[in-house]
Amino acid sequence: MCGIVGYVGDKESAPILVSGLKKLEYRGYDSAGVAVVNRNQLNVVRATGKLRNLENRVVADQPQGNIGIGHTRWATHGRPSDENAHPHTYKNVAVVHNGIIENHLALKEQLRAKGHVFSSETDTEVFAHLISDELEAGKELPDAVRGALDQVKGTYALAVVSALDPHRIVCTKNASPMVLGLGEGQNFIASDVPAVLEHTRDIVYMEEGDLAVVTAARVDVYTRQGQKVNRPTRRIDWTPMMAEKGGHKHFMHKEIFEQPRAVADTVRGRMLLTEGDVHFEGWNLTPEKVRSLSKITILACGTSWHSGVAGKHMIETLARMPVEVELASEFRYRDPIVESSHLAIAISQSGETADTLAAFKEAKSRGATAMAICNVIGSAMTREAEFSVMTNAGPEIGVASTKAFTTQLVALYLLAVKLGRIRGTLSVQAAQEHLTHLTLIPKMIEDVLKCEPAVKRVAREFMNAQDFLFLGRGPMHPVALEGALKLKEISYIHAEGYAGGEMKHGPIALIDEKMPVVVIAPKQPHVAYEKIIGNIEEVRARGGQVIAVIDEDDAQVGGLANHVIRIPAACALLAPVIATIPLQLLAYHVAEMRGNDVDQPRNLAKSVTVE
Ligand code: F6R
Repeated sequence: MCGIVGYVGDKESAPILVSGLKKLEYRGYDSAGVAVVNRNQLNVVRATGKLRNLENRVVADQPQGNIGIGHTRWATHGRPSDENAHPHTYKNVAVVHNGIIENHLALKEQLRAKGHVFSSETDTEVFAHLISDELEAGKELPDAVRGALDQVKGTYALAVVSALDPHRIVCTKNASPMVLGLGEGQNFIASDVPAVLEHTRDIVYMEEGDLAVVTAARVDVYTRQGQKVNRPTRRIDWTPMMAEKGGHKHFMHKEIFEQPRAVADTVRGRMLLTEGDVHFEGWNLTPEKVRSLSKITILACGTSWHSGVAGKHMIETLARMPVEVELASEFRYRDPIVESSHLAIAISQSGETADTLAAFKEAKSRGATAMAICNVIGSAMTREAEFSVMTNAGPEIGVASTKAFTTQLVALYLLAVKLGRIRGTLSVQAAQEHLTHLTLIPKMIEDVLKCEPAVKRVAREFMNAQDFLFLGRGPMHPVALEGALKLKEISYIHAEGYAGGEMKHGPIALIDEKMPVVVIAPKQPHVAYEKIIGNIEEVRARGGQVIAVIDEDDAQVGGLANHVIRIPAACALLAPVIATIPLQLLAYHVAEMRGNDVDQPRNLAKSVTVE
């Protein structure tokens, strides 16, 4: 989720690149840089931190050149630092990249054996080295880029300039976005439309595998096989604000719809289907250590705590290890029992939540092994952790967490499979089956997003309700908690999430004909389907309004509920990923219909860095 921009024309490129990057800062903001080419010289300026730091350096250094590329980074490999900031260079080549190169470690090994020296910890730098070698072998820049692409496995939006070929930018994409902006005597490239909107509204969207050669005078697009193609030019009439949100009305909506990509990026390169295993880069727990663990304590707040509750089901089922899920804000004030045989896992989108960080430090100081599941590389939590699993959701701007939650769920699932393999509770074949379920999830998310019109109808009917109840059993209990939290935080409607079996112990007293009850009832083992049908009957008997979230092919609940939202059937442990999405949409549409500030709800902040 980094931002890329490129310019070639008759103007000084550096100020244009910086101004384009400013429009993309929402895509990532831990470091930034530009590379401009002047005659046969590459000038690179990079800076850690906010874009302002790069801007100051560009003003001081005045890099000259009418062609260049720029990047604002959201770290995935390598902490935020000047060395890890893009562009990455090797000899005469500079590259900027958005995506993940899965086989970068193997490629680095091969290149080191040939005498290459790397100056960063990033996966991206291999591109600069590979392309440079291809140029030295006598290829033209576009073919050199193709030659490098033949060697990498992974996802990329990539832009390349070379001091040996100072009049063109070569860019290409595979699973990460890239657009071309068409001007008069100047042309632009960018990972997203807002970066170029100030200069042109004529946009070409590159397709998977496309490679473009961009000069001041023309833009030529080729397929991966080298065939020239015509991609249509679209005239964009978005306002700059609409453009930042990719045409969505709010960041939250955009982030809900980014979930197929975010989840795919979180599992990419980690599933070893043939071996029936999971690979986490930098995993440093020895098998002996994992086998000696007596307990896992998950520490988190809010939505991240909900993913921890779902993670408990996953880890206990697949790895047969006891898991406690602690509210971080409570943990350190009650003299918790922590032993050196415990693994403390902090789950946090931001990696900066004060309560989670304090609890994590407490657990660590009492001897627990410290692992983080986090979305922000280099954040306080990842610095504190002995090992981190990054969620690769990209920056989450909407205050209400959406894609961070679902990516945490799949990261926990991967962890559960890994622990299960090491502890011998999962055979190779069982792990293969569980991982196969996971491969289906990004497509299932795409499918479940199609329920938006049905969810909107429900939202319209209940937008003025005073209270909502959400019920779920087993792995659907955290989904009910999350559905209620999402609704209350952005719609300001009072909502409660409950385990279905608890309804008769209190909340049933609230039910009357005005009370909407969202029942999450996919037909799964562990979800106690028959029992949840009992809950539906109990609500209906008291006149309550049932909104049931059920499997696509469920023939039983349809007749009982007032409204149904049908979702694709995932396996029991991954069903929370799918079942949460209609609830995110419900909260979003209710809040939007009530005219609330969806992205910045009252009284809330994105990172809660105070206790
Ligand atoms: C709810 C929400 C919060 C966060 C909580 C923890 O939508 O976003 O409940 O989940 O503040 O934040 P992180 O995950 O950054 O530690």
